[in-house]
Amino acid sequence: MTKLAKLSFAKLEAPKKGLAVILAGEGLGLGPVAGEAVSGLDGGLARAAAIAGFTGKKKTTLDLVAPAGVGLDRLIVFGIGKAEDLTQDDWRALGGAVFAELKKAKAEAATVLLDAPEGAGVASEAAAELAMGAKLRAYAFDAYKSKKKDEDNAKDLKLALAVADPKAARKAWSAAEAIADGVILARDLVNEPANVLGPVEFAAKAKELEKLGVEIEILTEKEMKKLKMAALLGVAQGSVRPPRLAVMRWNGSKKGVAPVALVGKGVVFDTGGISIKPAGGMEEMKGDMGGAAAVVGAMHAIAGRKAKANVVGVIGLVENMPDGNAQRPGDIVKAMSGTTIEILNTDAEGRLVLADALWYTQETYKPAIMIDLATLTGAVIVALGNLNAGLYANDDELAEKLLAAGKASGEPLWRLPLSKEYDKLIETPNADIKNTGGRSAGSITAAQFLQRFSNDIPWAHLDIAGTAFGAPKDDICQSWASGYGVRLLNQLVADNYEK
Ligand code: BES
Ligand code: MN
Ligand code: ZN
Repeated sequence: MTKLAKLSFAKLEAPKKGLAVILAGEGLGLGPVAGEAVSGLDGGLARAAAIAGFTGKKKTTLDLVAPAGVGLDRLIVFGIGKAEDLTQDDWRALGGAVFAELKKAKAEAATVLLDAPEGAGVASEAAAELAMGAKLRAYAFDAYKSKKKDEDNAKDLKLALAVADPKAARKAWSAAEAIADGVILARDLVNEPANVLGPVEFAAKAKELEKLGVEIEILTEKEMKKLKMAALLGVAQGSVRPPRLAVMRWNGSKKGVAPVALVGKGVVFDTGGISIKPAGGMEEMKGDMGGAAAVVGAMHAIAGRKAKANVVGVIGLVENMPDGNAQRPGDIVKAMSGTTIEILNTDAEGRLVLADALWYTQETYKPAIMIDLATLTGAVIVALGNLNAGLYANDDELAEKLLAAGKASGEPLWRLPLSKEYDKLIETPNADIKNTGGRSAGSITAAQFLQRFSNDIPWAHLDIAGTAFGAPKDDICQSWASGYGVRLLNQLVADNYEK
């Protein structure tokens, strides 16, 4: 199983032995150091490229094994197209593609020369982004595989990135690595099966963030009862495993600066409850804590890079099970806010968990803004597929900031509407609101429901049902769980809430 055993930064100089990766721009343009590394080939590179039809186009490679005239065992040339056009996303994807190629080559050690074809040297931030791509691509959820496949017997990879300014690159990487580790933590939490990761175990994982200086508080069932969190508790009552509410606080800014609040849906398994789901694909509901996982991962990233921001993460952890004590359709519960809710479908449980988590968060922390993340509805997958998360907001400025952070981080969002007219769809004669609005506009009515518990502070809801897991594999993610939301939230904080 090729993993990334070690990642280091070295001086930019031409390697004389081993496996080297160089970057080639359009028209086979090489940087000066790469040029020097292949000078012994005596025109052999151009000849090999011509025969293979390699021109340096983005995402193409040329692989030369034991090239004559140089001491290298192997030379892999990566096409990057126009170097000056490469975005943060491109550098990250390139890192993933480089790792994949080295895995295919069963490489145990490799040096990537990061000098751009114009000779300027690749910026430290781009180098760190490339490193992040490699690390994310290398991730696999294989802890439960007792036998590795024969073809996977290759040793783990030691990767060196040769850069113009190794010191600056190492500094950029220390922040980027915290983000990558946050993504990986979120992926692990989502991939982990529910028999292993119940609400108590999940809360214990959140508690591990104490190592990074995050303050943790974990509310038990008894404490939640005292707070009158009947919406959350109603979901949990059908499970033999008790619920938890975990609070994570990172105080990186001055005291008194109102925090950014991140709230996550943490349904460790969603059977649907008494309104039980069909059997086909139900195993995917082990990932119904993707919102909570994104919040934990983001807290890891933010604390890990010592962000100068105050951030509080709150996650509601429950298991939705059918049982003699389970909640019934028709039941009416009173949420912590005082709002009464008629349960029409016990499978619309995420919003019930978030209702109390949101109300508790705004009341306790008086945050500057509040963002919740949840694998909330199948309807958002119908609307947006796996490529965008659904964004709802009661505040245009916050929505714009989130859309920008989505673009910059490569975790995109698409804004969907909220309105009084949609809000009508969750009215019921029997209580203040009901927990489903019927088949049409399913993701929107779920958002309308949540808005009732925002207490009108600047709030946004991200429906990540399509993006947290099950998205197509790509350059930086080969895993079922994507870790979606970690990079986005980190970016939002970095760009708007640090000082
Ligand atoms: N966890 C599901 C939503 C979901 C579905 C997430 C597929 C990821 C993949 C949620 O709790 C749910 O069951 N929603 C229902 C709501 C309905 C009963 C109003 C849905 O979307 O069908
Ligand atoms: Mn459900
Ligand atoms: Zn659910």
